[in-house]
Amino acid sequence: MKIFKDCTEDQITQAAQALIDGHLVAFPTETVYGLGADASNASAVSRVYEVKGRPKDHPLIVHIYSQNQMAQWTSEIPDYALELAKTFWPGPMTLILPRSPLAKDFITGGQNSVGLRIPSHPLALKLLRKFESLGGKGIAAPSANRFGAVSPTTAEAVIQELGEYLKENDLLLDGDQSFVGIESSIIDCTKDVPCILRPGSITPEMIKVVLNLNVSQVNSYGYLRTSGMHLSHYAPNTKVVIDEQLQHGDGLIALSEVPTPAGVTRLASPENVEAFAKDLYQALRKADLIGLKRVSIFLPKGDGLEIAIRDRVVRAAASLKH
Ligand code: TXA
Ligand code: MG
Repeated sequence: MKIFKDCTEDQITQAAQALIDGHLVAFPTETVYGLGADASNASAVSRVYEVKGRPKDHPLIVHIYSQNQMAQWTSEIPDYALELAKTFWPGPMTLILPRSPLAKDFITGGQNSVGLRIPSHPLALKLLRKFESLGGKGIAAPSANRFGAVSPTTAEAVIQELGEYLKENDLLLDGDQSFVGIESSIIDCTKDVPCILRPGSITPEMIKVVLNLNVSQVNSYGYLRTSGMHLSHYAPNTKVVIDEQLQHGDGLIALSEVPTPAGVTRLASPENVEAFAKDLYQALRKADLIGLKRVSIFLPKGDGLEIAIRDRVVRAAASLKH
């Protein structure tokens, strides 16, 4: 795998061309790093599943450059979905919409819907624009981690996760640390009203302001076809416990106002919930790297981004590795 840092225009063109040629390109988004493939190329997409070790019936999100590309991937777009797209794209939100014939089973896992997102990371947008100018229609990109593991928020983390599985002609674009830090909000737009399938930094409150309705959230334990919805997910090797009394030798992730007792390794002390989300996965990775047995996370309370943080931490704590 080749790595491009501080990408030049020429390197972005090379990366877009690599996708057109059927290779994989890992790239930064504002949420987490994605492992990209040409969403119209069955064999390239099949390699994404292999490299991730992900079951084939778990659908991928198609990343596009502009709202003009929505129509070709979908058969129908409800007005409320257009409103959400207009308000929150480019940004950390994925819309699930009825699919068009362009969205093949190898992207949707055989479902009749397709997930679309316009990311806001400048490098992701440049890559998408170039890719579309070369005739590409969308980049399928799951988070660039092995199935069930913690999503990468830096290029180094992508190398740790997938370095040994990527090939010579595959690429990694380094775009520094993802500034949101947890995966996009996923909103099901296939029914009369929207429903949040995966909480993220586009919150129910923000959606209410735009649509003037209380958006429902699926009971995440029941929605099995969405892989992020497996209860045990986002899990490091270190055991994760929530709000538990600290023991000597533990790691600790908590807001900066929480002090670090003697004998405890502080892994992150974010000053606010945005920083908590941004640093969470890096802190879990660090726990693994230094070989801690247990990490305790003190969860922030609240109904905004906190919902998404709690969702990810509860899943990390449900790991079957222990
Ligand atoms: O922030 C993100 O969304 C990142 C960046 C790279 O864009 N991507 C990401 O992809 O988190 P992934 O594959 O790790 O998680 C996407 C989730 C999966 O759980 C998948 O099952 C669900 O989206 N999904 C995709 N298409 C779907 C569909 N048609 N219906 C229901 N769930 C869908
Ligand atoms: Mg993922």
